[in-house]
Amino acid sequence: MAKAKQLEELKAKIIEDKVTPELAEQAAQLVFGDGSPDAEIVFIGEAPGKNEDLKGVPFVGAAGKFLDEMLDSANLQRKDVYITNIVKYRPPNNRDPEPDEKAAFWPYLLKQIAIIKPKIIATLGRHSGQVFLPDLRISADHGQPKRIHVTMDGKEESIIILPLYHPAAALYNGGLRQTLLEDFQSVPKLLGVSN
Ligand code: URA
Repeated sequence: MAKAKQLEELKAKIIEDKVTPELAEQAAQLVFGDGSPDAEIVFIGEAPGKNEDLKGVPFVGAAGKFLDEMLDSANLQRKDVYITNIVKYRPPNNRDPEPDEKAAFWPYLLKQIAIIKPKIIATLGRHSGQVFLPDLRISADHGQPKRIHVTMDGKEESIIILPLYHPAAALYNGGLRQTLLEDFQSVPKLLGVSN
């Protein structure tokens, strides 16, 4: 089955399975993902904010604008990559997602990744990074790719995790803006690495 169709079915399954019903009830809609199902790189943020909740698309607010700039700096566009979040409903008042909410979405996130089969997962922020690299210290480890092995659909797959700061952090810390842009420059080279 085509990847786009598999992703559509996964999206429908999240709704059918009533994942995090309390979050679903308060959110305007599910924010599943955006971009190419054939992307070689998937960006994973934490959870949708207000703008994302209204539009149903991840990273369309101020942080998203900076993410678009980062993509542009590497000659990439949204249609070349795939963007999603760990938690796919907006938490009330933009609070951090709870561990049980992240855990509830984990199997669906893994399935989403298994469908796309990217070479690289770029995690945006500490929370997203620690889902894949539990010992991550973002201040020391940002920009340093790590190869991990995850079991997807019963098969062990090797994948590169590139831990990045969250683009929202660059909005209130100007220094991080440059750091993020610099860390991002490794993306085209990593995309050239074969699995
Ligand atoms: N921050 C995130 O982590 N995800 C979004 O989709 C928007 C802002």
